[in-house]
Amino acid sequence: MTSILFMTHAGAAGGAELKMIDLAESTSNPSEVLLLDNGPLEAELKARGIRVSVQALPASAGSVRRESGLIGLLRAIPATLSMIRGIARRSRQFDTIVCFSQKSFVLAALAKPFARRPILWFMNDIVSTDHFNPLLVKFLTLLSHVAANHVIVNSEASLEAWFAAGGRRKRVSVIHPMIRADLAAVQSCEASRIAAYREKFGRGRPLVGMFGRISPWKGQDIFLRAIARVPGVNAVIAGGALFGEEQHERDLRQLTLDLGIEDRVTFAGHISDVATLMSACDVVAHCSTAPEPFGRVIVESMLAGTPVIASDAGGAREIVKHDETGQLTPMSDVPALAAAIRRYLEDPNWSKTIATQARAHAEESFSPAAMTQRFNEILVSA
Ligand code: UDP
Ligand code: GLC
Repeated sequence: MTSILFMTHAGAAGGAELKMIDLAESTSNPSEVLLLDNGPLEAELKARGIRVSVQALPASAGSVRRESGLIGLLRAIPATLSMIRGIARRSRQFDTIVCFSQKSFVLAALAKPFARRPILWFMNDIVSTDHFNPLLVKFLTLLSHVAANHVIVNSEASLEAWFAAGGRRKRVSVIHPMIRADLAAVQSCEASRIAAYREKFGRGRPLVGMFGRISPWKGQDIFLRAIARVPGVNAVIAGGALFGEEQHERDLRQLTLDLGIEDRVTFAGHISDVATLMSACDVVAHCSTAPEPFGRVIVESMLAGTPVIASDAGGAREIVKHDETGQLTPMSDVPALAAAIRRYLEDPNWSKTIATQARAHAEESFSPAAMTQRFNEILVSA
């Protein structure tokens, strides 16, 4: 049976890393995770019984933001070379390398001549030049031609952007991320913890939640401005500044003061029982201001049984059917988001119908079985 070395450069878990965890847990192939940074992810993997090793990137490369990673990586080349040798050594102990981030793909690709192992790359971004350095996009697409045996994107939207950026057309597949419905189901039944969350954040009012790492493009500011337009509700923002965006978090806290809603909004930080808090919410809003490549949080809300609103772009359109399994609102449209929140709250029966349809759709379309089956087919052919 093909043994797998999963790789990511991140030390903390964003959606791509959570997808990697789900896949590592679901596959029956022997596997190990190689992390290229220190951080809480190592302990999370160990706690879930996943074998893990860490080879930290040199600080100069590790501290660079995800979106501008290549420049940092190039600057750090001398120190990175010994790391590439280490990656090659580790890779040779496995049959196939499966990368979950751009940086880990670049490093695995550089190690490939020494490792001589096939590489599958889960490409989790919409690589438009609006958001990524055009040089980086060119480099990644070129490198994928020579080094990736298969590229797996997370949505049709990511695929379209990949082609538009000049990415290769052969041996590229779309696999929507899976979300563990069983975990969501367990967390959504925690009646006392759900009640505690409602009490803590809702304080007797309807509760609207937003989930996602703190980052300008995730649209927490749009969320806060919409909440300001819906008096009588409380809001909770769950998520941490995972990739060094602490200043943005401070700006958001200031925005709640400027909007005069500080007594109605709580910043919960990064939480580990997302489905429990989602279940405590009357509405969940996804507010990304750039097309979301996929958007795990949207599916998680569906599985938690809470009606969801998502930004009408990117992968969200492949998850939510407007007025059937949720509501879609134009990106960055504050009045539309506020109206969608009100609509759910004013019509609980309709909200319930939408949430029920959404849960059924999410269980059927984003199951671990579907994802692992497609992954196994690719693994065998790599
Ligand atoms: N998440 C979490 N705790 C939080 C906020 C978010 O565990 O406090 C998780 C969330 O459940 C989801 C992931 O972070 O699985 C975010 O993934 P998504 O695909 O929505 O966005 P990304 O951050 O990968 O762009
Ligand atoms: C990335 C994307 C997110 C997606 C996740 C899993 O982190 O930003 O939209 O859901 O990868 O593919």
